[in-house]
Amino acid sequence: MVKQLNINIAYEELDNIDELNPTDKNLLIVARKASEKAYAPYSNFFVGAAVLLENGEITSGANQENAAYPSGLCAERTAIFWTGANFPTKKIEAIAVTAKKGPIGDFIMASPCGACRQALLEYEIKQKENIRVILEGNNGKVLILNAIRDLLPIQFTSEAFL
Ligand code: THU
Repeated sequence: MVKQLNINIAYEELDNIDELNPTDKNLLIVARKASEKAYAPYSNFFVGAAVLLENGEITSGANQENAAYPSGLCAERTAIFWTGANFPTKKIEAIAVTAKKGPIGDFIMASPCGACRQALLEYEIKQKENIRVILEGNNGKVLILNAIRDLLPIQFTSEAFL
């Protein structure tokens, strides 16, 4: 028997960064700043990510490319792995992600790639609390999701093998 199941994911879309609450606005601004630190000589695509911890501290990362292309790493994983390595016991409240085509120009959307979604999900499961996602949108818009699992609704987790 064929059964159709529907997944419903809600997210907020704001017209402008100024419509964010001050905490999230600041987080997106930190992500924008972090994008300036991208090492992206091959793609020229500058991505920045900022992570908000439960104590208000903010960490950040930018994509780091490599001549052996797959050896590089996205901004989101750079940020989350650095955070996990340096603040292993601190809960993560939110992550903001933004991008730019080159060092100058408008900020545009960089929705996390599949591998980053999987990596981010691990931390959400580990801490048993949702991680809010603030995504730069195109044309000045901003998207807000309540959780990483909303970016990855059918998941692979350790439950499969543990
Ligand atoms: N990239 C990120 O850092 N995050 C994303 O969400 C998408 C892609 C990077 C990887 C690579 O350095 C460049 O953008 C082009 O794919």
